[in-house]
Amino acid sequence: MIDQGIISDIKYRNPIEDVISGYVSLKRAGSNMNGLCPFHSERTPSFTVFSSSQNFYCFGCGAGGDVITFIMKAENLDYISAIKFLGKRVGIEINDEEAQKGEASRTRILAMNKSAAKFFHTCLMESDNNPGIRYLRDKRGFTNQQIVHFGLGYAKDGWDNLTKHLKGQGYSDEEMKTAFLSSKSQKTGRSFDYFRNRVMIPIIDMTGNIIAFGGRILTDEQPKYMNTSDTPVFKKSRNLFAMNFAKNTCADKLILCEGYMDVIALHGAGFTNSVATLGTAITPEHARLMKRYTKSVLISYDSDSAGQNAADKAFRLLSEVGLEARVLDMGDIKDPDEFIRKRGKEEFRKLLEGTKNRFEFKFNAIKARHNLNTTDGRVKAAAETVAVLAEFPSSVERTIYAGNAAKVLGVNQETLLYDAEKYMKKSDKKKSSEEKQKMMIRSGGYGDTVNPDYVKNPAAAAAEEAIIGMMLLRTELVGEIKKIEGFGAESFFTEFNRRVYEFIIKSYEEGNGVFDEGCLSRSFSDAEVGRVVKMKIRRMELSDNGINTLKECVERLMDATSVKSGNSIEDLEELIKNKRRKNQ
Ligand code: UTP
Ligand code: MN
Repeated sequence: MIDQGIISDIKYRNPIEDVISGYVSLKRAGSNMNGLCPFHSERTPSFTVFSSSQNFYCFGCGAGGDVITFIMKAENLDYISAIKFLGKRVGIEINDEEAQKGEASRTRILAMNKSAAKFFHTCLMESDNNPGIRYLRDKRGFTNQQIVHFGLGYAKDGWDNLTKHLKGQGYSDEEMKTAFLSSKSQKTGRSFDYFRNRVMIPIIDMTGNIIAFGGRILTDEQPKYMNTSDTPVFKKSRNLFAMNFAKNTCADKLILCEGYMDVIALHGAGFTNSVATLGTAITPEHARLMKRYTKSVLISYDSDSAGQNAADKAFRLLSEVGLEARVLDMGDIKDPDEFIRKRGKEEFRKLLEGTKNRFEFKFNAIKARHNLNTTDGRVKAAAETVAVLAEFPSSVERTIYAGNAAKVLGVNQETLLYDAEKYMKKSDKKKSSEEKQKMMIRSGGYGDTVNPDYVKNPAAAAAEEAIIGMMLLRTELVGEIKKIEGFGAESFFTEFNRRVYEFIIKSYEEGNGVFDEGCLSRSFSDAEVGRVVKMKIRRMELSDNGINTLKECVERLMDATSVKSGNSIEDLEELIKNKRRKNQ
C-alpha cells in the first residue's frame, strides 16, 4: 500500500473541482458545483461536486466518491494506478516498490495466475493427441501459432491437477480460492480445481498481467464457458479480452465481438483489432475503455436475436461516450468465428466495408418485420421508424435518416420528422415522471439493490446510515464510537451497513487513526461506494454531527432492532437471528 501520508498529499494537491473540470463542464451552484454526469446519459445536471468535503455524487445514477474514485471510473484504472495518475498530475512520482508494499496478495494472485497459465499451456502442448489440443486443432481449426500467441491451455479432466501443482509451489488453499482457481468441498473440506476438462483462455491486461481465465468445455455439457469471477485483480465489467493486443492496431477501428473464440479466429485471420467482453454484456466502463484507444467501434455480435438485442445496447452505450459505432451484417452466419471458417478472411474484409450505422441497423430490422407491400405493414413500419428517429438528439441526423426512410416507406419526410419530435417530447415527459417514481421507490427503500435489507427495517437502516455518514464526515468520531459500550458491528441490522462499518473500523485501526474514504473503492463496488458517499453528503447538509447526535443515532438503532418493532413472523425471525448474532 502507498503510504497514507502520500495519498493525503496527492489528494490535497488535486482539488476535486480542478480534476473533474477536465472531464465535465461544471457550473457553480452555491458552495457546490453542478454538471452533466459523465457516467450516465442525462440532459439536466444531477452530478454535483461538493467542495467542502471534496466529494462528487450523482443524484441521477448514484455514482459517487472522492477524487480517486472519480479517476478510477473516468480513466478506467484500479486504485493504485489512479493514485499514481493523480500523483503524476502534480509531480509526485510513486515508485513501484512503494506501490507494491502490502500489495502482497495482489502480487501473489498475479504470480499464481501466471503459474497456472504455464501449467495449462504445458498440459496442452505436452502431447499431440490430448483431448485439449485435438479440440483446438481439429474442432476449432486453430493453428499452432494462434494457440501460442494467445497462450491457450488445457485443464485436464481430473479433480485437483492444478491445485496440487500450485500447492507444490507454496500457494495456500485460501489464495487459490481467492484467485478462483480452486474451490473447497463443503463435505470433505478438500480443495479441487475450479476449471476441469476445459480449454483455457488466459485474460491479459494492458500491462501483460494474467488477470483471469475463461474455460470452454470440450463436450456439449453445460456450462459451456466458465470464467473467473471478480477477484482483487480482475473486474469483468472493466476488462476486454485481447485488448492487450488490439490496442496497437485499433486507433481507427475496433471490432467488438461476443465470444473469446470469435476474437481468436479474427486475430488469426489478421484482424488484430478485435476484442470481446468477458461473459457479460457491455458496460459503460467497457465503452470508456474503448474510447481511450479508438475512434470507431464495429459491433460484430452473433446474428441470433440475443446478439442483435445486445448490439442495440452496445450502440447506446458506445454513443453515450462519444464513440462512432457501426454494426456488421453476417447474414445467416452465426458468429465471426463461423464466418471466417466458412467464408474466409477476404469476405470478412468486405463485411467491414459494408457496415451499418445505428439507424440503418434498426430500420433494417423494421423492414424485415413488416410487409411493406401492404398499407397496414407500411403504417406499422412508419410508426416504429418514428420511435427510432426519436432516439437521435441531433436534428441533422434525424433529417437525413427520415429522408432515406421516407423513400422506402412511401411517406412524407416532414411527417416522419414532425411525429418524431412529438414522440421525443412525450418520452421526455415520461422519463422525468419515471425518474420521480424511481426516486420515491428508492427513498422508501424498495428496489434497493445495494442494501436489500433496508426495507426490512427502515428505521434501523436510516440510523445506521446516519452513523456511518458521521463517521466519514468526522474521522475523530470513529474513535468515540468504539468506546460506546455494548455497541459494535453486531449491532447493525443491515448486512451492507455492517460491512461498511467493519471496513471503516478496520481501516481506521490499520491507519492508526487516519481513515481515507478513497480506499473504499478497493473493497466495494462502484454502486456501493456511491451509496456510502451519499450517507456522508446527507450528514453534510445537517448542522449537528457531534458526539451527542451520534449517541442518539446509536440509541435509535438499538431501539429499532429491539423487541418493540417486531409485529410479523418475519420480523420475529429476523429478531431472533439478530439476537443470536449478538450472542455469538
Ligand atoms: P456463445 O454462446 O455465443 O459462444 O457465447 P461462442 O463464443 O460462439 O462459443 P463457441 O463458439 O460455441 O465455443 C459468447 C460468450 O459468452 C460467454 C463467453 O464469454 C463466450 O465467449 N459465455 C457463453 C459464458 O460466459 N458462459 C456460457 O456458458 C456461454
Ligand atoms: Mn462460436
